[in-house]
Amino acid sequence: MILMITGTRTGIGRALAEHFLAAGHDVVGCSRRPAAIDHPRYRHHQLDITDISQTKKMFRSVRQEYGRLDALVNNAGVSSMNHFMTTPDEVSRRIFDVNFFAVLNCCREAVKMLQKSSEKSTAILNVSTVAVPWAIEGQLAYAASKSAVEQLVRIMSKELSAFGIRVNGIGLPPVHTVLTRTVPRPKIDNLIARQTISRQCTTADIVGPVEFLIGRQSEFITGETLFLGGVH
Ligand SMILES: NC(=O)c1ccc[n+]([C@@H]2O[C@H](COP(=O)([O-])OP(=O)(O)OC[C@H]3O[C@@H](n4cnc5c(N)ncnc54)[C@H](OP(=O)(O)O)[C@@H]3O)[C@@H](O)[C@H]2O)c1
Repeated sequence: MILMITGTRTGIGRALAEHFLAAGHDVVGCSRRPAAIDHPRYRHHQLDITDISQTKKMFRSVRQEYGRLDALVNNAGVSSMNHFMTTPDEVSRRIFDVNFFAVLNCCREAVKMLQKSSEKSTAILNVSTVAVPWAIEGQLAYAASKSAVEQLVRIMSKELSAFGIRVNGIGLPPVHTVLTRTVPRPKIDNLIARQTISRQCTTADIVGPVEFLIGRQSEFITGETLFLGGVH
């Protein structure tokens, strides 16, 4: 399988890329800073995914090298934890640019490559958060941008169904990464206590569900966002 995962320098994206490389797949990744993975089947693009011309260039190079894509995982994301009254306009806009508009642009570019896949059904997977169902205070712009992603999942799944492309989401509780390192421990612990499985989610908990949602075993699942850890 040839898959693209955005945001592979750190955290969840890096763990996913390493998992799929170890499983024998080809992985195309990206981040603003240089690659953290060195593997013969890994290609890294250093770019800001909010820059549409750089994004198009990345997909052009995928077309030239592989001629197709079998799956896209829109993982790159940013957050800012602040009361909305003290969140400047440019911070909220940047969050939407990375978490929503860049996802929309990557999907648009990826569809052309996914259509060239020989797989019976190809997949786009987007990453969401418990901040959406739990409407977490201090995460207004972040949660709103991911709500937009969950709506994208529902609508895009219908618009791409005729092309044999499935679109799903995976909703994550707190995971220890760069994104969450500044969140005070008591806040994280409160969220973990709300999960049905009340221990902290790790990247090892995420790879299996991601593999399922982009693979053949889920070929009759589309338009869903699957939450890990029991989030109700
Ligand atoms: N950690 C959690 O608790 C948690 C919970 C729920 C959902 N999530 C979601 O999971 C996803 C991954 O988060 P993470 O925790 O793994 O965060 P992370 O460690 O901060 O990783 C984010 C990755 O995205 C890249 N990135 C950020 N902005 C980018 C841009 N404009 N262009 C290209 N690459 C960019 C970063 O690399 P560069 O800095 O080099 O660009 C990095 O590789 C995000 O969508 C996040 O919202 C995380």
